[in-house]
Amino acid sequence: PRTEFVAELLSKMTLEEKIGQLNLPTSGDITTGAASSSNVAKNIEDGKVGGLFNIKSVQKIKEVQKIAVEISRLKIPLLFGMDVIHGYETTFPIPLGLSATWDMKLIERSAQIAAQEASADGINWTFSPMVDISRDPRWGRVSEGSGEDPFLGSEIAKAMVNGYQQNDLSKNNTILSCVKHFALYGAPEAGRDYNTVDMSRIKMYNDYFPPYKAAIHAGVGSVMASFNEIDGIPATGNKWLMTDVLRKQWGFKGFVVTDFTGIPEMIEHGMGDLQTVSALALNAGIEMDMVGEGFLTTLKKSVEEGKVTIEQIDNAARLILNAKYDLGLFQDPYKYCDENRAKTEIFTKSHRDEARSIAAQSLVLLKNSNQLLPLKKSGTIALIGPLADAKENMAGTWSVATNMEKSISLLAGIQEVGGKDTKVLYAKGSNLDYDAAFEEKATMFGKTLHRDNRTSEELLVEALKIANQSDVIVAALGESAEMSGESSSRTNLEIPQAQKDLLQALLKTGKPVVLVLFTGRPLVLVQENETVPAILNTWFAGSEAGSAIADVLFGNENPSGKLTATFPRSVGQVPIYYNQKNTGRPLGNKEGKFEKFRSNYIDERNEPLYPFGFGLSYTTFEYSNLKISSDKMNYNENVKVTVDVTNTGNYEGKEVVQLYIRDLVGSVTRPLKELKGFQKIALKKGEKQTVTFEISVEELKFYNSELQFIAEPGSFDVFVGTNSSTDNKVSFELIK
Ligand code: IFM
Repeated sequence: PRTEFVAELLSKMTLEEKIGQLNLPTSGDITTGAASSSNVAKNIEDGKVGGLFNIKSVQKIKEVQKIAVEISRLKIPLLFGMDVIHGYETTFPIPLGLSATWDMKLIERSAQIAAQEASADGINWTFSPMVDISRDPRWGRVSEGSGEDPFLGSEIAKAMVNGYQQNDLSKNNTILSCVKHFALYGAPEAGRDYNTVDMSRIKMYNDYFPPYKAAIHAGVGSVMASFNEIDGIPATGNKWLMTDVLRKQWGFKGFVVTDFTGIPEMIEHGMGDLQTVSALALNAGIEMDMVGEGFLTTLKKSVEEGKVTIEQIDNAARLILNAKYDLGLFQDPYKYCDENRAKTEIFTKSHRDEARSIAAQSLVLLKNSNQLLPLKKSGTIALIGPLADAKENMAGTWSVATNMEKSISLLAGIQEVGGKDTKVLYAKGSNLDYDAAFEEKATMFGKTLHRDNRTSEELLVEALKIANQSDVIVAALGESAEMSGESSSRTNLEIPQAQKDLLQALLKTGKPVVLVLFTGRPLVLVQENETVPAILNTWFAGSEAGSAIADVLFGNENPSGKLTATFPRSVGQVPIYYNQKNTGRPLGNKEGKFEKFRSNYIDERNEPLYPFGFGLSYTTFEYSNLKISSDKMNYNENVKVTVDVTNTGNYEGKEVVQLYIRDLVGSVTRPLKELKGFQKIALKKGEKQTVTFEISVEELKFYNSELQFIAEPGSFDVFVGTNSSTDNKVSFELIK
């Protein structure tokens, strides 16, 4: 019926109306939910708009949908999109933080709750998940992805798509998902946002494409093109990417939308004038033009001049109408406009409780000397730092629907969880030390950042006073939310200097110091790692951040997050990632001693500060008895790898057991390690569990130099351990 319904509708549409379906303007103000501008309203009336984004609230959306389905000639309903990236009003950790849970059920659940809340507020389409692999923490949008690894990234891509769409878009609490940014957006030269990307095809296929492909195979309904070029052609106009790879190789059946003004930006790329680049985009395989209005204003002329065909426009309009059909909008265009749902299903107690628990599981304990953590729920805590009482910084980047006023600050969380026997003293200690650019961006997004007018000496005096009265200092330091995310690339990966100075002054008091770190990216923490006894990395943990962090600090929750992006020792090591190649001149020693004419630095070791997969717990886990079911494997067989994991410490806890392989000899060079399995297990004190992994030939496949996906016979090492630096291994041979 969809095919007939859409074909019939198309047969009634004028060329202008078909082109109208391909037009996606933004309208109104995301924070106030103001209605669309009159120009957009008139275009909707005239059938020149396919969807809108950035309108918040059932009431506003209803008003606009009404224009489409009651006034426009063919009454075609609109899509309503929004960047629902890590939750809606109930906000979850930033995606990099969510990925650190390594818990696919939780990640899927977070997307499901986001869909429920967004759909209760009129939204039917989210621009998520972002699955861009990135190995460069200078790039501010590492915060929005799932880190550096294609295997983990693919699992998370699937979980997110399933969470939003639940395999059933006809329900009223699921929404259309949009995987982005296709492709390679996470690999800009020098980590500078929107910059040139240049990558070999073999690297694309092996390392950067898998999460997009996983999202397609999970049934994602739409794809967003990236801003960057690929092989010299911007993704938005790249036919090889959008047609050959996406549709022919991967079988994608939904529609592709550009990123914000992606079409006119091709003029800046030097690809021609607006008519030329619009035709280029349509010919490449783009269906919807976000904000650029290139399709709206030039496609008719291009049809007349034979630069694009009517069939291409029919096809693009068909794919967008299909999505509207699948969402059930033709049956009921107000399907997502239930005011009662808006009142009862958003930012509910139960969603917030789940967000709190998920947030706690995203925190990564980086250091804990002498078991300084967990803290006792008694005595005096000096909570110091510009992020300690900073509600506006808890949700993190791209949290457009969050209500910052309702976010839980760390101060509030510590007061609540610490209870009546814990005395909490607070001082700001220093400014965040952001510069004017951050203030400007924050203001643009309607956020106010308050710079304290006191001098740094005055702030420090106040902080030292309470520090000296305390039993333990909790220093809440790091990046502000706006220091990562879009257009927030950095060349310096340290905690801002004013805060580093504060931290060193606090350490000089001789009191034990716990660093509660806020960050949207891997930071360089060499000095902190050397000098601070305990470091808890909390990312931006969402609307319930303060409570979740306090749950972990006081031991109500045992930290179990593991890094999904390598933390470098120096910005000069970037790009840095665990699944690197060996080179022909690998370093010959494990101590990181410099060796002339080997691949290393004269001024820094090769290893990172904290490797991929790293994260501590309040308890300890011991790995033993690693075994493999056979040292030989045929192509149609599996081998079983088993390991015993024992909780040898004093708390119950969760551990992410990680399996990596190394393909020792290949027709192309292969990485030193590749993640191919993981399991998050819960163990009581003293409990032991045998964890079993199965390896099939699928896990051994890779793209060779002809871009064939194959497994080659030969020797493989299998590593199982607590993070990517493990040496604990068994071996087997794949036999033809
Ligand atoms: O979805 C985003 C994208 O990630 C960056 N540019 C704007 C889009 C829509 O807001």
